[in-house]
Amino acid sequence: MPSSKDYMEMDDKYCAHNYHPIEVVISKAEGVWVYDPEGRKYMDCLSAYSSHNAGHCHPEIIKALKEQADKVTLTSRAFYNDKMGPFLKRLCEVVGAHINDPTNSGIMALPMNTGTEAVSSGLKVARAWGYIKKKIPKNEAKIIVCRGNFHGRTITIVGFSTDIEAVRYYGNFGPYTPGFITIPYGDAEALENTILEVGPEKVAAFLFEPVQGEAGVKVPPEGFIKKIREICTKYNVLMVADEIQTGFGRTGELFACDHENVKPDVILLGKALGGGVYPVSAVVSTRNVIGPDVIKPGTHGSTFGGNPLASAVALKAIEVHLDDHLAQRSKEFGAYFLEGLKNIAKKETIVPIKDVRGKGLLMAIEFYTDARHIVQMLKDKGVLAKHTHSKIIRFAPPLIITKDQIDWALKIIEDVLVA
Ligand SMILES: Cc1ncc(COP(=O)(O)O)c(C=O)c1O
Repeated sequence: MPSSKDYMEMDDKYCAHNYHPIEVVISKAEGVWVYDPEGRKYMDCLSAYSSHNAGHCHPEIIKALKEQADKVTLTSRAFYNDKMGPFLKRLCEVVGAHINDPTNSGIMALPMNTGTEAVSSGLKVARAWGYIKKKIPKNEAKIIVCRGNFHGRTITIVGFSTDIEAVRYYGNFGPYTPGFITIPYGDAEALENTILEVGPEKVAAFLFEPVQGEAGVKVPPEGFIKKIREICTKYNVLMVADEIQTGFGRTGELFACDHENVKPDVILLGKALGGGVYPVSAVVSTRNVIGPDVIKPGTHGSTFGGNPLASAVALKAIEVHLDDHLAQRSKEFGAYFLEGLKNIAKKETIVPIKDVRGKGLLMAIEFYTDARHIVQMLKDKGVLAKHTHSKIIRFAPPLIITKDQIDWALKIIEDVLVA
């Protein structure tokens, strides 16, 4: 039987080197645990970048996947299928309560597959809404984004990323799509000033992450989300929340904007929406923004978007997140885990710790120096995490994690970090 080493060599040889994985091969998983081909057991503290909120191979989600796989998997949107409607109806009911719909126009969704596609689709919706509804002069629409953002890797999205090394790749992906303006993250005043400088009549949308995950779990100052809601309303600018990483309970509320009781105009979802088993993403908004006078047949699409297999899985994933009270668990156990990390940081550690922060079960330890060797040491002792921006280690275990399991992980983190 091939070993972990054999699999890693195969990847190295045949897969483009677009990632630099931690040296562990996962061949089996259940709940918070994953196993390598040699049978070693690890706790997954990354959760496929917050996709496994419900834990690996959740039995009900896997059952929904298997049952649907035996019936029909893909129809394309050339025809109707009997699963997409029920899925989107439930998605709109659940997410709709968190969307700003001042005229009660109703909630609609645009189903896609990956997170980056949901973002690209949201940008198209925002521009089309800008021209059709806000009457922005043709080709003059502007979308404001934040420094340190991570919204995916399509060519337009990398063009407005500020991550020169990882995403823009030192200019090797240019020329970039015009029409995007970057402001500092967490700075509502900069948003208002930029809207006024550009001219409010030209600004279609403000795209932001309520907590910046890839940037290293950057939590904005208290009140930021409320203030941007006011500014977006004042200037008729769409407030577009990318909840692809923060959604479905990750930060301790169903959606991270709920921490400030704010309803954005558009919510972008992915990752956990697919229950950790299938790529499912969506743009959710109002009929005013995404309805038939803005998105018409042929203006957008995806062969796999809204397919019956994806719909069956996502419908079950939504129910599991609600029935298992994952947001509540994330709030409670996130506070406990974070306190544990902060206690470790108070001790004398092998490398100095700059900061410990988080919201719910989305947490990070920031170091002054590169943290890859720490991630490797954690892996050797059974905790899988990944560093982001070299100096920050994110901890984002499945939201089903128990207090005993957190204690187990904290003990290992302490063993590794405390001299
Ligand atoms: C906030 C946010 N948006 C978009 C994406 C892109 O999602 P995907 O990798 O599924 O394309 C990510 C991925 O990490 C993300 O964190």
